[in-house]
Amino acid sequence: MSTEQNLAQIGVVGLAVMGSNLARNFAHKGHTVAVYNRSTSKTDKLISDHGEEGNFIPSATIEEFVASLERPRRAIIMVQAGKATDAVIEQLADAMEPGDIIIDGGNALYTDTIRREKEISARGLHFVGAGISGGEEGALHGPAIMPGGPAESYEALGPLLESIAAKVDGTPCVTHIGPDGAGHFVKMVHNGIEYADMQVIGEAYHLLRYAAGMEPSEIADVFREWNSGDLDSYLVEITAEVLSQVDSETQRPLIDVIVDSAGQKGTGRWTVKAALDLGIATTGIGEAVFARALSGAQRQRAATCQALPSGAVETFDDLGIDKADFVEDVRRALYASKLVAYSQGFDEIKAGSEEHNWNVDPRDLAMIWRGGCIIRAQFLNRISEAYDHNPEVESLLLDPYFHQEMENLVDSWRRVVVAATRLGLPVPVFSSSLSYYDSLRAERLPAALIQGQRDFFGAHTYQRVDKPGRFHTLWSADRSEIEV
Ligand code: ATR
Repeated sequence: MSTEQNLAQIGVVGLAVMGSNLARNFAHKGHTVAVYNRSTSKTDKLISDHGEEGNFIPSATIEEFVASLERPRRAIIMVQAGKATDAVIEQLADAMEPGDIIIDGGNALYTDTIRREKEISARGLHFVGAGISGGEEGALHGPAIMPGGPAESYEALGPLLESIAAKVDGTPCVTHIGPDGAGHFVKMVHNGIEYADMQVIGEAYHLLRYAAGMEPSEIADVFREWNSGDLDSYLVEITAEVLSQVDSETQRPLIDVIVDSAGQKGTGRWTVKAALDLGIATTGIGEAVFARALSGAQRQRAATCQALPSGAVETFDDLGIDKADFVEDVRRALYASKLVAYSQGFDEIKAGSEEHNWNVDPRDLAMIWRGGCIIRAQFLNRISEAYDHNPEVESLLLDPYFHQEMENLVDSWRRVVVAATRLGLPVPVFSSSLSYYDSLRAERLPAALIQGQRDFFGAHTYQRVDKPGRFHTLWSADRSEIEV
């Protein structure tokens, strides 16, 4: 039992790997940490394995846990998203007092966070939905943290979170994102961008392997080299590690013995669903989510593999491209597609922020994603600079730096998409991102025809380029036009 002299600054509920690592991180930074888990075995294990690392106050009941916290009480929930989170929130809220802060550090759906914040604030407590990125290692050594909720709760919480967050150039990778669901929304889009980033890296690998015929170890070296330039990032770094791994059982490259069916936990899908509702074209993230779904359609793939006609597929030699030039083209295509994915992700955050009046500052995200999280990359400094330069920029692709980059990249990008198409190799994000780019820069889109069709079958009306108003053509009469 705790005494008044020995109260904890922070508590963690849910001591599976993420929760216990986060608790240990707080303890390593000198905080006294209250810990509680539904089944006491996990609490006991944390204390027996790591109790020496700092000051922990273990509790066997939630009431005891709450009593061991300093006021305002701050408790981070790290349990399964969904019903378990609701159950724990309820127990905490019953035991807490007005002014105390409940933080949900799980991967909650932002609409759940909005609902919970409403319910909890009505009871006089603060509720903070905080996205935490960086996986198990990040939780232990320094994650990127995206807390939402009321700004005043950040005053009590911020210094604690800043102490455990990753640091880049001395700046902690955490800041208050915005009210209620803002933190979890931003974390969701972060994960969506991660899906796209991983898929474009996958497409680059696939082309080097199956177009240029390179071996995984050779491709690992290419990624290592890329990691020292514009593409310098955690995901490119670990890609080189995965590609150089040899399976000890078969002596084959590990990549060749891993089943090519990608899993997902849902945040990518949520990102696309939210983008659809907001009307934002996050095509890169969407194609990345669909690519995972298609990779998992095992029966359909087995039935169609080799069975569908391929048309006149050519060989790499037919393309007449020098291999070294091709590798450089692929690097540029990867960079361009990645830029599009980030640009679309930031568009979605802007739209979500406007829809919910969150006032999210995109510069904050570029800053805090530079460290701790899975998409940490050098390139986020550029995004940060772009928003510093013009916080209202219509698309990141219009920032002078990125605009210039795109000009440098686009020819290579086209060559790569053409080469993949001629070779019959799938590049869903490379190619759809190029179409997105060409759509943005097109003077005219076929949407005019769609408006004509809609007017024909449903009298949905259209606008004209030469005068204001809405118009309808009397298609089944004399085809004259009326203003409506
Ligand atoms: P793991 O498989 O690593 O234990 P998990 O099943 O996702 O992870 O559970 C994560 C945490 O959520 C655990 O701390 C779990 O508590 P238990 O150890 O008692 O299972 C917690 N959790 C899940 N459902 C819960 C609930 N309804 N109430 C409280 N905690 C819950």
